[in-house]
Formats: sequence, structure tokens, C-alpha cells
Amino acid sequence: MRWVITGGCGFVGAALVNHLWQQHRSSIRVVDRLSAGKADALHPVPHKILKTLPTANTWSENQVDVFAFDISDAAAAQFVSQEADIIVHLAANTGVQPSIADPMMDCQSNVLGTLAYLEAARASNPKRFVFASSGAPVGAAPAPVHEGVIPRPLSPYGASKLAGEGYCSAYHHSYGLDTVSLRFSNLYGPGSKHKTSVIAKFCDAILQGETIAINGTGTQTRDFLYVDDAVGAIMRAAFTNGIGGELYQLGNGRPTSILEILHLLEQQAKRQGLSMPPVRHSSPLSGEVQDTYALTRKVQQHLNWKPEVDLETGLERTLQSFLPQAAP
Ligand SMILES: NC(=O)c1ccc[n+]([C@@H]2O[C@H](COP(=O)([O-])OP(=O)(O)OC[C@H]3O[C@@H](n4cnc5c(N)ncnc54)[C@H](O)[C@@H]3O)[C@@H](O)[C@H]2O)c1
Repeated sequence: MRWVITGGCGFVGAALVNHLWQQHRSSIRVVDRLSAGKADALHPVPHKILKTLPTANTWSENQVDVFAFDISDAAAAQFVSQEADIIVHLAANTGVQPSIADPMMDCQSNVLGTLAYLEAARASNPKRFVFASSGAPVGAAPAPVHEGVIPRPLSPYGASKLAGEGYCSAYHHSYGLDTVSLRFSNLYGPGSKHKTSVIAKFCDAILQGETIAINGTGTQTRDFLYVDDAVGAIMRAAFTNGIGGELYQLGNGRPTSILEILHLLEQQAKRQGLSMPPVRHSSPLSGEVQDTYALTRKVQQHLNWKPEVDLETGLERTLQSFLPQAAP
């Protein structure tokens, strides 16, 4: 199988590449401009960084080729996607705040970058095109969120992810491309040191001995999904028959408060001989949703997928991965 993974050096992408290399020995091409993720994240998978397009379009078998290109580079998208069986499109501006600060930048990456890979897929006709969406398109919809909720994005990031979902649906119906959109909830796990998500920030603060900052009371709830479970969903989205054009809401299906996360991390820190730093509450972020979690009935039925890693285990592995001696 020949896989193209955009954003393959990022948090989710590197976990997927590692899984594919270790378990399936696939031929893998990564496209990543190495802005947020780094090629070291692929360790111990052998890989080579390419900064120019080679003259011959040959797929490597004994290493992962990392094409250090922007996803909006249409020529690179066409080159890389040639003869691909599966395209997993993960690369994106992933931040809400950067999208508010610079919506054109967000649109360039998340809308035009997605279109570049859909166009490349239209030419190369892979078996499946998997798109990483998010909970952001549904905005402040009351919990639980699901595929039937009317999307009302609160940020340019939510709007650009919704546009990506829209184009995936359109390319399925207009050109017969087998696209699948996955709306990930809050992902956590090893490989997230560069992320600014709440669990990554808490783990980092514990390791650095710095004050843990909580916005508001900490009673707000989120749906946290372990990264390997997200990889499992991507694998099922890639191989399940008859789901072209579909959209799935993913999560562990239950709300967890920020205070509960803190409490579980405190227990883990104690077990690992780490002392807890002080906690400081600041004013709540404006426009922040109080409670949210995903209803995952559709993905369970269609993909026969459900999360396998419980929060305690996931947090233990995550905190361990932040230790200085842990692999990159
Ligand atoms: N991590 C989460 O909690 C979460 C939640 C919902 C949705 N998602 C979505 O899942 C996908 C993967 O997220 P992640 O957490 O792995 O993010 P990440 O930032 O760790 O990885 C994204 C990768 O894409 C690369 N990239 C970014 N813009 C690029 C561009 N214009 N051209 C080429 N490469 C570019 C970055 O260098 C990085 O390695 C994203 O689409 C994100 O929106 C993530």
C-alpha cells in the first residue's frame, strides 16, 4: 500500500507513520513543511527529507520520504500523490487563536491546502482520502455534539475545517472520490510536547515545575481522545468499504472536566516521583464553551470503532513521554 500523509511529522501524523511502518511496512510519503512538527518525531522510522522534487517519481520502500513542502504547493501535491493508494490529509493550521489573528493564513493552509490535495487526488484517484476535521465546525452547540448538529463555527479555524468537510463531500459527489472526514475531539498522548492543548500544557508545567494555569474554574468539560485511538479510527476510515463522502464525529464519548484531568495527572505525577507545582486560576477565555462531548454512535456503527485507551492509562503514557529521557 502506498500512503501519502500530509502533516506526517506532527502529533497525529508521526503516530500514524510509526504505526504504518511498524505494523504494515507500507510505502509512505510525508508532506510537511516542518513548521510545527519535526522530522525527529518519526524516530525510529528511517526517513529522508527532500527539499526539491526528484526528477524520477519513484516510491521508496526502505525509508519514509519526507517532502518538506507547503500543502498549498499544487505541483508538489500532484507529484507526491501520483500512484498513492491512500491519502491522509492532516496538515493544517491547528490553532484557533492564530486563525483569529490571521484568517487569510488559516484559509491558505486549511482551505487552499486541502483543495490542492483533493485536486491531486482527483488526478491520482486513490482508494480513499481521509480528512482531519475537528469539533470546531459545530461551535457552541449544546452537548453532545454529533454529525446532525447544524455547524456554526466560532472561529476562522472552525470555518476552514467546515470548508474542508464541504469540499470532501463535493469531491465525492462531483468526481466519485472516496473521501471521509473525521471530526477529532481533543487529542492527547505521547508526541504532543509541541502542542498547546490543555493536557500537553499541564504535563509540561509538571515537568518544568512551573505554575499550572487554569482558565476559569476548571469545571468546564471536554472530550479527550488518546492519539492511538485516533490512529485506529484513521485506519478504519482508510479501509472500511462503502463510506465515501461520510463525516464522523470522534471522541471517547464522555465529558471530563479540566479539574478531573488535573487530579488524574497529580496521581500520575506522585507515582512517577514528581512533585506537583502550584495551580493558578485566571479569568475564563471569552467565548469558551462550558461543556462538550461527542456522540459517537455513527462511527461505532459504520467503522466498528470505539476508543480503547482509558484516561488513566493515556495520561500515564503522556506524562512519561514528557520526561527528559523519553524518545522524541
Ligand atoms: N490535536 C488535536 O487535538 C486535534 C483536534 C482536532 C483536530 N485536529 C486536526 O488533526 C490534524 C493533525 O493535528 P496535530 O495535532 O497532529 O497537529 P500538529 O500541529 O502536531 O501537526 C500538523 C503538521 O502539519 C504541518 N503543517 C502545518 N501547516 C502546514 C502547511 N501549510 N504545509 C505543510 N505542512 C504543514 C506542521 O509542520 C505539523 O507537523 C490537524 O488537521 C488538526 O486540525 C487535531
